[in-house]
Amino acid sequence: MGAKKNLRARVTELRELIRLHDRKYYVDHVPEISDGEYDALMAELVGLEREHPELVTPDSPTQRVGGAPTEGFRTVEHAVPMLSLDNTYSPEELLAFDAGVRKRLPDEPVEYVVEPKLDGVSISLRYVNGRLDVAVTRGDGTRGDDVTANIRTIRSIPTSLPGRLGVTEMEVRGEVFMPRSGFERLNRRRESNEEPPFVNPRNAAAGSLKLRDPGEVAGRPLEAFFYQIVGGGASRVATHLEAIERMRAMGFPVSPDITLAPHVEAAVEKCLEWDDKRRGLDYDIDGMVVKVNSLEQQERLGSTAKSPRWGIAYKFPAEAVRTVVSDIVVQVGRTGKLTPVAVLEPVFVSGSTVSRATLHNQDEIERLDVRVGDTVAIEKRGEVIPKVVEVVKSRRRGRPRRFRMPATCPACGEPVVRPSGEVDTRCENVSCPEQVGGRIRHFASRGAMDVRGLGSALVRQLVSEGLVGDYGDLYALKAPDVTALPRMGERSAENLLAELEESKRRPFARVLHGLGIRHVGARVAQVLAQSFPGMRELASASEGDLADIEEIGPVIAASIRSFLGSSRNAKALRKLEEAGVNMRGDLGRRRKTALAGLTVVLTGTLVRRTRHEVAAAIAEAGGRVSSSVSSKTDLVVVGKDPGSKHTKALKLGIRTMNEAELERLLE
Ligand code: IVH
Repeated sequence: MGAKKNLRARVTELRELIRLHDRKYYVDHVPEISDGEYDALMAELVGLEREHPELVTPDSPTQRVGGAPTEGFRTVEHAVPMLSLDNTYSPEELLAFDAGVRKRLPDEPVEYVVEPKLDGVSISLRYVNGRLDVAVTRGDGTRGDDVTANIRTIRSIPTSLPGRLGVTEMEVRGEVFMPRSGFERLNRRRESNEEPPFVNPRNAAAGSLKLRDPGEVAGRPLEAFFYQIVGGGASRVATHLEAIERMRAMGFPVSPDITLAPHVEAAVEKCLEWDDKRRGLDYDIDGMVVKVNSLEQQERLGSTAKSPRWGIAYKFPAEAVRTVVSDIVVQVGRTGKLTPVAVLEPVFVSGSTVSRATLHNQDEIERLDVRVGDTVAIEKRGEVIPKVVEVVKSRRRGRPRRFRMPATCPACGEPVVRPSGEVDTRCENVSCPEQVGGRIRHFASRGAMDVRGLGSALVRQLVSEGLVGDYGDLYALKAPDVTALPRMGERSAENLLAELEESKRRPFARVLHGLGIRHVGARVAQVLAQSFPGMRELASASEGDLADIEEIGPVIAASIRSFLGSSRNAKALRKLEEAGVNMRGDLGRRRKTALAGLTVVLTGTLVRRTRHEVAAAIAEAGGRVSSSVSSKTDLVVVGKDPGSKHTKALKLGIRTMNEAELERLLE
């Protein structure tokens, strides 16, 4: 009994010693004992565990490379979605970000933190009772892959947390990356083994985390920095910097380059400084991240569906690469716009091969004076299509001809027009096959109706065979029509029809987005779906009614009106309606609430929730938020320091209430 107790104590002690020295070596980079001494500790622990397998725990340092190869990775849902950051590319955009933050936090001091944006793979780690429970990749932001066994092999990541700071449950997020030196070594090794080298450290890190065999991952030089505590574990931590310190104290590796910026100007300066300084790091960073320091302010700022409002990425200017323009072709978009595109000799830029770049319009071509055969510098910024930055005139040979926009549409042959004062040249033939196809592709796209299996090639066939003239015709397709197309089996035809059938039930907002109304993207479509019960009501709204809605300006309002006013569009809409495509929003189905049908105006600062959230809650309850007070307004909600809208409401005798009263109504 006593011997067993001693044994247990020694095992615990060895594990703690090994963890301590792992941390000194891998995280702090100040080893205190020799490799020989470390190996002796490990050997003793391995020996004891071998003799007493009942003492082995998953977080024991001996178990880092313990897992057997996996078949595939289990999918795990994130408790809190893993969002991404919005990108900025200039000091002006950073100032605009700050202006947005301070507009939502009026009259409050706001401090920022600036830190490197690591170019790796994001990861979320959950610890339960102080032990690493599960490590999940970002995936699609909602769910990712369980890569726990692979993460355990990274020596700098603690598999257990120090007892006195231990919390029952905690989640931390950060970035796994491969240092440049390790990347070079790995690639040299791969080349001598005649394996294909990795393109860049980011791909190498991502590829390593996806390996099925943790034993192989253990040989990959991976590191990680953590930058966020999610949910529990952050209690008694008031700022981002304190959260970083807390993580450091718990043994997590954190970036040594995280600094406070008392105001946005200081943050901008730091971002610019690092464009140069980053060359001194042994790992790639593709920008800096600017975050609001106060966690309480972060919480009040909240997030959009995609990204937090409290932080933003500043991307370093991309390095330009040279290549040759082998042709200039013209594409016709779904709105009829003609876009000249440079066909390039393929070249590798920021992580991928590029063979086309947009030239936008005739004016841009003239500004650049780009001609076929020219050597050009191209740049890729973030996810967007590469851009031709300049022509290298010294490399021009002979006198290549200037490019001219064609006088007729390359797709349908009709004359094109360029209205005076506008930069775009358009094909105005609504039946132009490229436009027809483009509108259908947009309708079926992922963000809209998400009809899988309806790709570009199939759309082109359907249009050229005369089977569909607009998206309304999709729902009249019959199996024999589809099977008769080249390369179309019975099976795929059936799948397509089943997909179309299913798409009829998509939310109203997606249907609205799919219609392809100019200026109506996913967000505006959502606002419209929250403001009108269904298509009928939307179709009978005047331009003024539309422009009154928060987030919808006169340009969008006019565009919606003009779309709905066209008989061609009305016909396509009727086909959708007759086919049974969903034309009602949640509003159109909801029971009556106190706010149902009311037009509400918000004025002054709301403190309980952001304006956005309040507007969404009002819409949810059947009301409509409008931006200006008029005789049509039913209710004005008065926040702190209200403006002229309050005075106007009083003058017009419109009912007013404060934020607390509104909240009660919403309940
Ligand atoms: S904060 C939005 N800080 O950049 C979630 N992200 O699009 C908060 N990244 O997916 C992220 N370095 O993988 C944050 N210091 C840093 C970062 C960082 C790299 C990655 C992260 C995220 C992406 C943002």
